[in-house]
Amino acid sequence: MRKILISPSFLSANFLNLAADIKMINDSQADWFHLDVMDGVFVPNISFGFPIISHIKKMAQKPLDVHIMIVNPDNYIQEFAKVGADILTVHYEACPHLHRTVQKIKSEAMKAGVSLNPHTSVSLLENVIEDLDLVLIMSVNPGFGGQSFIPYTYKKVAELRKMIDQTGSHALIQVDGGVNTENSKLLFNAGADVLVAGSSVFKSENPAQAIIDLKKI
Ligand code: DX5
Ligand code: ZN
Repeated sequence: MRKILISPSFLSANFLNLAADIKMINDSQADWFHLDVMDGVFVPNISFGFPIISHIKKMAQKPLDVHIMIVNPDNYIQEFAKVGADILTVHYEACPHLHRTVQKIKSEAMKAGVSLNPHTSVSLLENVIEDLDLVLIMSVNPGFGGQSFIPYTYKKVAELRKMIDQTGSHALIQVDGGVNTENSKLLFNAGADVLVAGSSVFKSENPAQAIIDLKKI
């Protein structure tokens, strides 16, 4: 039976006390740690980089799901492996030689993910889908937490589900941006496997319960 995985985004965590939030995720029903790296070039925001990730790695008891919104990702793949990324997701729009980038991620013993901006068609992944471990469908324009979910995402998830099932690819479908309990079930029904949630987890009164609620599908 398919089940849903939850990957809380640390972009909305408390940076004055990351240890408390890491412990909360370790003790919760969450499956992965979602870490958003932004370079101020590919997206209009700058978040955090290697030092923060390597510190989180020391305490995290679950896989690090690292989403890099940066140009020239190939230059940094080795370093992301070194600081402890388990899954490394690059943006389709930042990779002119995507096949090579994916192979490079795998050669560093990480799982390889590719992310699509809202305007980027799922069909563009047809020739590489069998090499991917994960496809991240952005349900907001990347760069910031707390934005509203774009409803067209359901169609993209369903289309990607069809492509994956038809090709026998083992890629997981992840959705990121504006995910909450109002759209989680619909996303699962459309074919999603992993939901990223930033504000709906960390800004809630009871984050551990918010994770449980997102898992009720
Ligand atoms: C946005 C990031 C997201 C972000 C999601 O560019 O990729 O992971 O933290 O935050 P929410 O869940 O608040 O939309
Ligand atoms: Zn993200």
